[in-house]
Amino acid sequence: MGFVDAIKRWRLARQGLSSGKKRRIYCSNPVSAALEGSIWVKLSLYAIFAVMIAMMVLRASSTSAFSAEPVKGALYGFVIALMALVMFQVTLQNSCRRNSRVILVLGGLTIHLVVVKILMTVIDNQSGFESYRFMIIPYAMAPMLHGVLLGRAAGSFSTVFVSFVGCLFVPREDFLGYMVLSLVSGMTAVLLSDRVRKRGQLLKAGIYSGAVAVLMGLLLGKPGIASSFGPNAVDHLQLLGSSSAAAFLMAVTTALFISGLLPFFEGMFNLTTDISWLELSDLNHKLLRQMQLEAPGTFHHSLVVASLAEAAAEKIGANAPMCRVCSYFHDVGKLKKPVYFIENQHDGAENPHDALTPTMSALIIIAHVKDGIDLALKHKLNPRIIDVIQEHHGDSLVYFFYRRAQEQKKAELEKVNRQLENPEDLPVVDEKSFRYPGPRPRTRESGIICLADTVESASRSLRKPTPAKIRALVEDLVRTKINDGQLDDCPLTLRELAILKDSFCTTLRSMLHSRIDYPKEAKEKEPSAGRQMDATRGGRTLPAPERA
Ligand SMILES: [Fe+2]
Ligand SMILES: [Fe+2]
Repeated sequence: MGFVDAIKRWRLARQGLSSGKKRRIYCSNPVSAALEGSIWVKLSLYAIFAVMIAMMVLRASSTSAFSAEPVKGALYGFVIALMALVMFQVTLQNSCRRNSRVILVLGGLTIHLVVVKILMTVIDNQSGFESYRFMIIPYAMAPMLHGVLLGRAAGSFSTVFVSFVGCLFVPREDFLGYMVLSLVSGMTAVLLSDRVRKRGQLLKAGIYSGAVAVLMGLLLGKPGIASSFGPNAVDHLQLLGSSSAAAFLMAVTTALFISGLLPFFEGMFNLTTDISWLELSDLNHKLLRQMQLEAPGTFHHSLVVASLAEAAAEKIGANAPMCRVCSYFHDVGKLKKPVYFIENQHDGAENPHDALTPTMSALIIIAHVKDGIDLALKHKLNPRIIDVIQEHHGDSLVYFFYRRAQEQKKAELEKVNRQLENPEDLPVVDEKSFRYPGPRPRTRESGIICLADTVESASRSLRKPTPAKIRALVEDLVRTKINDGQLDDCPLTLRELAILKDSFCTTLRSMLHSRIDYPKEAKEKEPSAGRQMDATRGGRTLPAPERA
């Protein structure tokens, strides 16, 4: 099929009817998509995990709690793993939905427990290292990894699981001590690494986690403090110092290890942390610099949308750094034909749309979404950015050109009625040709950017803005989006929409502060925001939404 298409393209290019280039298409691999949601794959992963945990307990070291009755220990391990999987399925539904995330969670837990088991075995085989047993375990490994990549809930789940299963590898008398140390140290790492925005914060979480491990170890008498004041006090204090240093070193190494491997995990499991979003928010990206030079109006529009979206996302607990970065790139497709978008047209300059039919103008406007995806794929932008480029207009109508096409058809119809024109020459105005291809926003962040984009575009046409006018405009635009069904696929609640509207008003008020007429004009009777916008549209070549 691909070969036939290539020949067709070649023939068209030879006839001068095609550039011969192929547009990049953004779609996921159907095989990986099927595997991602397959229940059988998930059940197999669960079964392998439970069996592996049982095997690990069965082959635990000679000093472990169940060394005398390994089969009983393996059974305990198997049952704990099964119950943990039930808990995972019930409490972490977001992570369960995708099999790649199931692999990340279960794989992380398995690696953590393997490391614990190896360290326990090494300590048991080396005499004189018993005092270090509780201090050289990387308690924060799986909890921190899952906390950073999947959130607090996943991190807490990991902490509880590795604490419950890990204690099966230690001697029976240290059972509770290990569990308490692991729980406290793991939870400290999870709480401090939640939504970290700088790599340094991860290191800080590691240091605190190590400090807590040392403190708990001292309280539980693990590094030998109980006998520190006996006849061999110096030896014991040395031991205390070295085991505390070992605990710190292990916690910090764990944090550095996770911090270093984060890009690898993000790429592998298609996740993006706030750290990466902040790194991506650099305005020196090649596409953004090109936009700054070739489409300065669009660049400014994107910056304002980013501020509106980020502030609003922060208020409802959505991913604010992601909203900022995705807003920067949402209109990158306008780089292909910048002068066709009003924000890049200079006052008094010729409008290229004047020479085009409304259908052709709408086609060019709509194409900025596909062109944006094409550029994003070419520059290997994050898949979440591509989703936002694709969804930021949903399947909304390019209203201005649709209305112009209808007006032209009406005028032609009058000519036909007066028998000045042939009825067959009447233009066909199909609403579908004036709609963006979609899909509609499917995430909260995408929905926020869609609204911020519309609000920013429309706010520019506000004459003599007042707080009341800004409020009316925002209310009107959000209501229109809801009525058009553009937010039907995104999980924003009505309460969140109310908070978003408040946030947009506040941000807009501060942005338009120098233009706002406060006391006198506010009392004057002004037309409503909707009518104001329509009046403004009438006086301009393009309406506000088409700038979005
Ligand atoms: Fe836009
Ligand atoms: Fe756009």
